[in-house]
Formats: sequence, C-alpha cells, structure tokens
Amino acid sequence: MTTSSSERGVSLGMPELPAPAYPDDVRARLETDAREIVARYPDSRSALLPLLHLVQSEEGHVTRTGMQFCADVLGLTTAEVTAVATFYTMYRRGPSGDYQVGVCTNTLCAVMGGDAIFESLQEHLGVGNGGTTEDGKVTLEHIECNAACDFAPVVMVNWEFFDNQTPASAKALVDDLRAGRPVTPTRGAPLCTFKETARILAGFPDERDGAVAAGGSAGPASLAGLKLAKGEVSAARVVHPRDGGPHDVGGDVHDPSPTEHLSSHDAPQDTSASDPAHPAGPTAEEGE
Ligand code: FES
Repeated sequence: MTTSSSERGVSLGMPELPAPAYPDDVRARLETDAREIVARYPDSRSALLPLLHLVQSEEGHVTRTGMQFCADVLGLTTAEVTAVATFYTMYRRGPSGDYQVGVCTNTLCAVMGGDAIFESLQEHLGVGNGGTTEDGKVTLEHIECNAACDFAPVVMVNWEFFDNQTPASAKALVDDLRAGRPVTPTRGAPLCTFKETARILAGFPDERDGAVAAGGSAGPASLAGLKLAKGEVSAARVVHPRDGGPHDVGGDVHDPSPTEHLSSHDAPQDTSASDPAHPAGPTAEEGE
C-alpha cells in the first residue's frame, strides 16, 4: 500500500490542518483504556505500539486523530508517532475491509501454492494487493512469513490461521466471509472482526467463549523435525493423517491418541480451513 506525503507526516511547505478531535465520550473512553496500557510499562513511550492498536480498534485504521491521541497521551511529537505507525504493516493507514485476508507469498508458501492462491483471489475478488471489495468486507494483501511454514500455503484472516490452503479453498473462504457465513480457523482462537482483533492486540483480554481454551498448539507437522532429530522416527516417512485414522510412521503403524490431534493437520475436516483434497505432507501412497 502506498501512502501520500501528508499521510507520512512529511511537510511540503503547507502547514497541515490539525487532526479532527475524537468526540468527548470516545476520547474519555480511550483515555481510560490508554491509562491501563501505559501503566504496564516502566517507560510510557514503550506503550506506543499497543496504543496504535487501540486507536485502530476504534476506527478500523490509524487516522491522524488516532496518532494525535497517541502523541498527546505519551508526550511524543506526531512525527514520532507517524514514523512508527507507517513502519509496521499491521497498522492500516486507510479504510479497508472487515476481514483482512493475507496470503503468505514468502518462499515456502509461494512454492507450495501461495502465489497461485494470491493470483486466483485477485481474479476472484477483482482487487489487487491492498484492495478492498466493493462491499467493504474483504481486503486482500500479500503477507510475509507468519512462522507457519510447516502448514504452507497459509492464509491469515485477521491474523488467524487457515492452513494448507488451495485456490479453491481460499476462494470458498472469502465467499463465506463476504456472505456472512461463519468460518473457523484451522487452529487458535475463533475469528473476529478486524476492530476486535486490534483491541486484543492492544493487550485487552479476549473474553469470547472458548477463545482462550482454543489457543492452539504445535501439531505433528511442527514436531516432525524434532522427532527426527531425537531419532524417534525414521526419516523415511512421516505421515500426517487428515482423517484421524491410523497412519504409517517410519514403517510402523501408529494409531494416534486423541491428545495428538492438536493442530491443523488433525483439525476437524468440517471446518472451512483446509482443503481435504489437497493434504499437506506426504501420503502413504506417495511414499510407496
Ligand atoms: S513462508 Fe508462509 S508461513 Fe512461512
């Protein structure tokens, strides 16, 4: 996404108009939240990142009003706040969709299908990188590696994981989002709106039912390398079943216990997260 010089806080000789103020009730509410955030840090300016998430949770993006608020609370200049807000891509600088659909196109996801997913979503949604659908529901963008490479290719919706995607499953996902149909991330907490996500990132507890309990965990794909290093399994074959049934590990038939079904490769297949026609990892057939 590009930003104008005024958005970057760069003066071109014309004095900038003051940022519009929040309504009194909004400012009072945000000040209460801001005091709680600032109190967590020995140095108040350390609270800038969560404060930017807080103002983003109010308007859906970081406005000049929000940056002025952060500057006032922390005793910083608006230039200092703007420099931070424009550096990190998690802060939006303009209005966008309720759901930020980020397709990882870093190396591993790209070669596993991330590039194809991104191209198909561009065509399907009729928007480019950073573009928002006309209904205001979905903003599409490239994202960088989210440390979920073992579940590549990964799509993130408001920073929740949708693992092992394909162009078909990703298109179904955005269709569901636009139609208001519920979607379930492969792991982690339930999906919420971008504003709700921003408030959680500001450090306020996620009080939705089951959100904490659904915290997610490393799954077999994440642990395969560790098991290989420990000599617990043969490198010949590591299989991640998608139906919860017995599977072949290193030549031995392994019947996983329910406690091993903790992450995406073992996720219930009635979620919208994965495409069962395209399992990640080698299958028994491929190893033969
Ligand atoms: S390359 Fe996509 S999550 Fe790492």
